[in-house]
Amino acid sequence: MKTPGSAAIIETKGVRLVNNLILIGFMGSGKSSLGRYISEQGYSLIDTDGYIEDKLGRAVSDIFSVEGEEYFRRLETRALEELLEGGVQDCVIAVGGGLPVKEVNRELMHRLGTVIYLRAKPSTLEFRLSGDRTRPLLRSGKLRERIDSLMAERKDIYEAAADIIIDTDGYTFEEIYGLLKEKIL
Ligand code: S3P
Repeated sequence: MKTPGSAAIIETKGVRLVNNLILIGFMGSGKSSLGRYISEQGYSLIDTDGYIEDKLGRAVSDIFSVEGEEYFRRLETRALEELLEGGVQDCVIAVGGGLPVKEVNRELMHRLGTVIYLRAKPSTLEFRLSGDRTRPLLRSGKLRERIDSLMAERKDIYEAAADIIIDTDGYTFEEIYGLLKEKIL
């Protein structure tokens, strides 16, 4: 239940005892930043965008512009498969904002760990993403319209995919981590 004045974990659905944490959410929702914060508390950090960039030696934006989005989506699936095959443990895994859209990726994430959705309001995302030039899906059109239309496509997917949903607007990583710790860590 949401209580005024505190970050609210609004929903927890049968959290399993697996020790990877998978952070999902829209671009700009704070997955990488919270991931870095959690990694300072004893977890190893994996970022699927970074994993793909390191493996190919190329930037995500370059992959999008040369081979296209579908190709990048296949790389995301492969990255999850490799993490599973590698038997990663005690990791916080921040995944790209579009990764949960594919059903196979949702299954793989659930096999990897507890899925946590960092939910943020479009206005918060717009503020955080204004001036960003790195994300290919935000390059065309008006930023707020891009956010609203992608969010309309993804909102239900994020919510259904998550074991835990956290409303992050206005809260620090420390506060969010504190809540996670209370619940599952
Ligand atoms: C994307 C999000 C990006 C990156 C790519 C596509 C998306 O990751 O994977 O630009 O479809 O939402 P972040 O969510 O880490 O920005």
